[in-house]
Amino acid sequence: MHKLNVDGDRHQPELTREQIERLEHQYGNRFMLEPAPDDKLPPAGMSAEEAKRLIEQEMVLDGLPMRNLATFVTTWMEPQAVRLITEALHTNFIDHAEYPKTAEIEQRCIRMLANLYHAPGETTGARTQGSSEAIMLGALSLKWKWRARREAAGKSTDRPNLVFGGDVHVVWEKFCRYFDVEPRIVPLKKGKYTIGPEDVEPHVDENTIGVAAVLGTTFTGHADDIPGINDLLVRLKGEQGLDVPLHVDAASGGFVWPFIYPDSKWDFRLEQVRSINVSGHKFGLVYPGIGWLIFRETTDLPDDLVFYENYLGKRDATFTLNFSTGSAMVLAQYYNFVRYGHDGYRYIMETMNYNAHSLNEEIKATGQFECVGGDDQEQLPLVAFKLAGEHNYDEFDVAAQLAAERGWMVPAYTMPPDAQDVKIMRALVKQTLGHSLVSTLGDDITEACASLKAKGGLHESDRKRVKTNTGF
Ligand SMILES: Cc1ncc(COP(=O)(O)O)c(C=O)c1O
Repeated sequence: MHKLNVDGDRHQPELTREQIERLEHQYGNRFMLEPAPDDKLPPAGMSAEEAKRLIEQEMVLDGLPMRNLATFVTTWMEPQAVRLITEALHTNFIDHAEYPKTAEIEQRCIRMLANLYHAPGETTGARTQGSSEAIMLGALSLKWKWRARREAAGKSTDRPNLVFGGDVHVVWEKFCRYFDVEPRIVPLKKGKYTIGPEDVEPHVDENTIGVAAVLGTTFTGHADDIPGINDLLVRLKGEQGLDVPLHVDAASGGFVWPFIYPDSKWDFRLEQVRSINVSGHKFGLVYPGIGWLIFRETTDLPDDLVFYENYLGKRDATFTLNFSTGSAMVLAQYYNFVRYGHDGYRYIMETMNYNAHSLNEEIKATGQFECVGGDDQEQLPLVAFKLAGEHNYDEFDVAAQLAAERGWMVPAYTMPPDAQDVKIMRALVKQTLGHSLVSTLGDDITEACASLKAKGGLHESDRKRVKTNTGF
């Protein structure tokens, strides 16, 4: 009778690397024995399954998007939308001749957004990779229109400037550097993290190509005083003949304000607002990357910036910084529009807002923090908060401790000049942070503070793990 060897194979000699490799085709995966290729193409490939597993193994060390409360970008979509996206992955959006329906769907999305933003009549716009591309194109339009006005008046065009607050996303400074425009940045102050007309007025002159105002800032989620800035620009037009356009950076706010604050005027209802950008991949609830640029009127897009080509079989107009890109997110945006409609978006935004208020209460109830901005202020569904009183740790410590204890990604950062001494934490409340997770997060923040109180701030090396970027 066969006797069971209770020691198993323990006494068998270990396999050599060569023996393991010989058995590999039967049992294993070559990538388990080798470092991941990282500087040149491997001489020979591997099976599809192995390649997939190699990458999947590494991805385990990336953060879980649903615990990422730093990002404004969508981390969950409905399975039907995901199927639609998967089925569209092999089409190039720019190939309008071959995919005319996709091009038509892009135009439907532009018309729907223009309508949502109260465009007075027929207008135009563009699908972009995100708000950054939309802002580059919108600001280029401001520059081109300003130059045309100056040339028509026989005036110099060599010193364009753009006015905005320190509360803008970095893309605005990027535009100024890339396209040779002087940035006139209104500094922030401790306790004042948005800008209004009194801040803008001293910076505006005949060389101002436009003013940029933010609806839902990256730092605290509040809005600049857009109606106030509009009134100022209307006054300057009447008094001095200076027709300075206003661009609204509604990257996040463009899908929040119309549903939660429908009576608040920030869009084309205001006379000087000539263009608006919005990220479909933020509160438009689509995966990255999709953004939109919407003009007030067709004439706000200078003809010179539109390129016509016959390259893909048909005369076609393009107004983009890049050329080829996927169709999937355009279709996904349209899916959300028809799937949710106005009521659905309002329900989702109200839900996020409700949960953001609950989180605000939870955080205040810890007794350790104050929230930035009053309850009556219009704000994105997020909580921006900072420590109140004296502590033997700071906001960066809390963020690192929360990450260590529970894996939450809550960023801590300092505000832009001249409020650079202010440290803030910020948690986005999106569709993936339901009510029970809000309570859990509140408890986790309390526990992280208790740990820090007992042991003091973190070691420098732990603090390096803190997420400090604001704009995603
Ligand atoms: C106010 C604002 N503008 C512009 C951007 C850039 O947007 P995108 O990431 O879509 O390029 C962001 C990103 O967070 C933002 O918050």
